[in-house]
Amino acid sequence: MSFIAVFYLPSIRLVRYTAFVFCQSILIDGIFDILYTHSMRRVIAVANQKGGVGKTTTVVNLGAALADLGYRVALIDLDSQGAMTVSFGLNPYTTKPSMVNLLLNKDIALSDVAKSVAERLQVAPAGSDLLSAEYRLLKQPDRTTRLRDAIEKSRDDVDYVLIDTPPNLGLLTVNGLVAANQLLIPVKTEYLAMRGVRPLLESVWLIRDRINPDLQLLGVVPTMHGASPNADAIVSEMSKVFRNKLLKSTIPMDEAAAVAPASRQTVLDYRPASRAAVAYRELAKEVSDVLR
Ligand SMILES: Nc1ncnc2c1ncn2[C@@H]1O[C@H](COP(=O)(O)OP(=O)(O)OP(=O)(O)O)[C@@H](O)[C@H]1O
Ligand SMILES: [Mg+2]
Repeated sequence: MSFIAVFYLPSIRLVRYTAFVFCQSILIDGIFDILYTHSMRRVIAVANQKGGVGKTTTVVNLGAALADLGYRVALIDLDSQGAMTVSFGLNPYTTKPSMVNLLLNKDIALSDVAKSVAERLQVAPAGSDLLSAEYRLLKQPDRTTRLRDAIEKSRDDVDYVLIDTPPNLGLLTVNGLVAANQLLIPVKTEYLAMRGVRPLLESVWLIRDRINPDLQLLGVVPTMHGASPNADAIVSEMSKVFRNKLLKSTIPMDEAAAVAPASRQTVLDYRPASRAAVAYRELAKEVSDVLR
């Protein structure tokens, strides 16, 4: 009896305790898995209210370079100009369902709209009908969170979602910033380059305060470097303003980047050894390192 009391009963307790710890660890692992799966999806809004600074070109080529690195990537076109959609050879008028359907219909998820355009690379297309979506959304109480909800409902697991936004701070850009957990700002290295960044950052702080506290500034990437004779002085000015948020990768002015969309290719496919292709591959490595 004393044998049982000394060894057997404690061993039952030990077994029970071990089972308890085991179950707890499964539970904790499960929670960590969920947290991990969630935090694995990086949603990057590429925004700058200034027009023609390289937002679309950056989404297209950074997205393609991330896919080349082995990540699963979904690109979202939130611009009624549909330039990103066209860059991948999709027709912005006839490709359905598209972003307008996703924004106006709460039952549509990102995975319903995204089309596969290359290995590990999907595009959610848009066209000029997005303008009417913006107008119709204005009356909806959940107008700022429609995109976030559609991404969360998505059935496809992706590592990166990149959002191309229009050159304004309207409702579509706000949807992009609310859905994102990272903001990437392309800034063209030219005189008055930083015009547009201040109002954007003011909107970001407002959105962080009110709707999306997860939104962080991933960084500022200088684009079309070399277009202006004082580009280096502008980059050094940018480094004083943005400090460690100025990314190390700089995208050069390169005709290949401008011509690639005409052949419905990314610059990485169109001219893999071009300076722009090399720079976008470097940017993809830097972004994936920063967000690791
Ligand atoms: N690195 C580059 N070298 C040369 N041309 C470029 C480069 N990046 C972009 N471009 C060209 O500059 C123009 C503007 O680029 P892009 O469309 O990417 O800017 P955007 O910020 O998306 O413009 P918008 O505000 O109108 O949406 C395009 O014609 C594009 O092909
Ligand atoms: Mg654009």
